[in-house]
Amino acid sequence: MRIAVTGRSGQVSRALQELAAMRTDIELVALGRPEMDLAEPATVYAAVEAVRPDLVISAAAYTAVDKAEDDEVSAWNVNAGGASHVAEAARAIGVPVIHLSTDYVFDGQADRPYLESDTPHPINAYGRTKLDGERAVAAAGRRHSVVRTSWVHSPFGPNFVLTMLRLAKTRPEISVVADQHGAPTAALDLADALLRMAPPLAARSDDAALTGIFHLTAAGSGSWAAVAEAVFDESRRLGGPVAVVRPIETKDYPTRARRPLNSRLGGTRLRNGYGIELSDWRVGIAATVRRILGDGALLP
Ligand SMILES: NC(=O)c1ccc[n+]([C@@H]2O[C@H](COP(=O)([O-])OP(=O)(O)OC[C@H]3O[C@@H](n4cnc5c(N)ncnc54)[C@H](OP(=O)(O)O)[C@@H]3O)[C@@H](O)[C@H]2O)c1
Repeated sequence: MRIAVTGRSGQVSRALQELAAMRTDIELVALGRPEMDLAEPATVYAAVEAVRPDLVISAAAYTAVDKAEDDEVSAWNVNAGGASHVAEAARAIGVPVIHLSTDYVFDGQADRPYLESDTPHPINAYGRTKLDGERAVAAAGRRHSVVRTSWVHSPFGPNFVLTMLRLAKTRPEISVVADQHGAPTAALDLADALLRMAPPLAARSDDAALTGIFHLTAAGSGSWAAVAEAVFDESRRLGGPVAVVRPIETKDYPTRARRPLNSRLGGTRLRNGYGIELSDWRVGIAATVRRILGDGALLP
């Protein structure tokens, strides 16, 4: 099948490109700037129309969470406006969309993992624009899936794992927030799951069990400090950079945008609809550390 993915250099897009390159049954076409700009509707319609995919994965987004606080309009144009254009362009050629969204649509006040049926309540601009994106995709028809994920990491771009390893090269001790909890999710595991969702969704997009909102993260959860410990456990094993993790509270690490304290996403829709479950987050973290350490260019 032919799949179009929005974004070229993004973590999830690059993970999809890497996996698709190893398969003969999937042709993946990455649509990105400058030809396809989510803030320019005409370019989105033209790009999707030209590729004529069987399904679109909507992975591109304005992901600069702190910057979005000061430029919510730009973030909205991409995360909500862009999501709408992608979903409408897919509808125009009669194919479904898998649209990526985020744990940041929730306020983090719950004392349990969030379910797909829980009411979102974002506490920052990024979350608000992503929630509007989800609603725009839903408004474009019932044949689409919205996949919420969290704390994405990969060997492909700026992310927490890379930051920890880079900092550890020059710092003996790193302060890391210990009161935000979530599930770090490997972009490659996420991409693998998306490629497993694509064929049934393309074939049966009128099946209610395959459409709507899905929570897709690695299993289990930890704090950012626990994630940092896991990064350094694997790095130590491989002779890579290591630092002492000093746990701190969110209030001691002020950021422009507020983050939810509870980012845990639960629910059974993905397992019931698609039979997909990811492994424990520590497995994905160890794999990303191995890839980063194995690629000298990433950690000069
Ligand atoms: N990263 C996380 O921790 C996280 C957590 C939860 C959910 N998500 C969601 O998962 C999805 C994938 O995230 P990611 O980590 O792969 O993001 P990422 O690495 O930050 O990549 C974002 C991608 O979006 C593209 N993009 C941004 N503005 C665009 C525009 N105006 N027109 C076209 N493309 C544009 C970028 O294009 P260029 O290549 O041109 O820069 C880039 O390819 C996003 O929907 C994000 O909201 C991410």
